[in-house]
Amino acid sequence: MKGVSYKRFGGSEVLEYGELPEPKLSQNAVIVRMMAAAINPADVALQAGFGESFMETWFPVVPGWDLAGIVERVGAGVIEFQPGDEVIAYTHQEILHSGTYAELVSVPVERLWRKPRNASWGEAAGLPLAGLTAYRSVVDTLRVSDADVVLVLGASGAVGSLATQLAVGSGATVIGSASVSHQNYVTSIGALPIQYGDDVAEQVRKHAPAGVTAIVDCAGHGSLATAMAVAIPGARVCSIADGGPGVTTVFARPDTRILARLVDLVEAGSLNVKVAVSFALADAAIAQDALKERSRQPGKIVLVPDITR
Ligand SMILES: NC(=O)c1ccc[n+]([C@@H]2O[C@H](COP(=O)([O-])OP(=O)(O)OC[C@H]3O[C@@H](n4cnc5c(N)ncnc54)[C@H](OP(=O)(O)O)[C@@H]3O)[C@@H](O)[C@H]2O)c1
Repeated sequence: MKGVSYKRFGGSEVLEYGELPEPKLSQNAVIVRMMAAAINPADVALQAGFGESFMETWFPVVPGWDLAGIVERVGAGVIEFQPGDEVIAYTHQEILHSGTYAELVSVPVERLWRKPRNASWGEAAGLPLAGLTAYRSVVDTLRVSDADVVLVLGASGAVGSLATQLAVGSGATVIGSASVSHQNYVTSIGALPIQYGDDVAEQVRKHAPAGVTAIVDCAGHGSLATAMAVAIPGARVCSIADGGPGVTTVFARPDTRILARLVDLVEAGSLNVKVAVSFALADAAIAQDALKERSRQPGKIVLVPDITR
């Protein structure tokens, strides 16, 4: 099979496209034919060696944790899926070795859920990691309700846009920060847009003079430090990219309960994953470089097998 791998840590220049051994099929896993694999900042960070202190790495590494595809074979112990099923997965493994930038991916059955029927392959691939992170933040951690005024930092981002939609869907008033060029996108997903920068607090107070009851930081970049000034006493605050006193740090975690809920929300039209652009698998290096391009369209960057491009 064709796939993308790296043999040493580095930037996009370490990625090699070529022939890779097909994954083995264990009893409680399925082999999925990749139809789309979304790129995430974590792929790039781990490839740069960011995980060296807390994760084993077995080179060569196939990067990527987000997948949408078609079940090709099922292990002897799998009764939940059958060949031909359309599925999504957040394939996160504790050892960095076999990811989703490949034509065939072996996925433990407990990482899989069915694909939303109304989503394209790219939209479906963009849902698991960003959706799990957003849901754990907004629903499980902050328990946002219609009584809340929520500030989403990085509302135009992959995670932030889903966090925004989940908070809006719960009936909360949502204020979302983004760059100047993504203000209309933030409006389109139901939030009151503000621009990130030093004057975030003043901008928030124009929409919410009394302050906000919850903050979801999906941006990092230290943006939480200035935003804390608008949190009312007792406000709930979480971050997916930062920490600090009073801040709950949230990490994506494989969870089919949440995947099922996310799929339902997508099928109900309450949650939309935006795809910015898709690239052929062979162009994974260009795709990773595009992720760093700040002037790009909001939305996921997605890899597709070369034949479907
Ligand atoms: N904890 C976890 O499990 C987890 C999971 C997923 C992601 N993450 C981390 O969360 C962050 C966002 O991930 P993502 O996939 O959503 O990335 P993304 O799609 O690139 O979104 C980044 C967001 O940050 C905003 N931003 C960029 N530069 C900024 C700045 N200087 N100040 C304030 N905001 C800025 C962007 O706004 P514009 O695009 O409008 O400029 C965008 O809204 C990354 O650091 C990623 O590593 C963590």
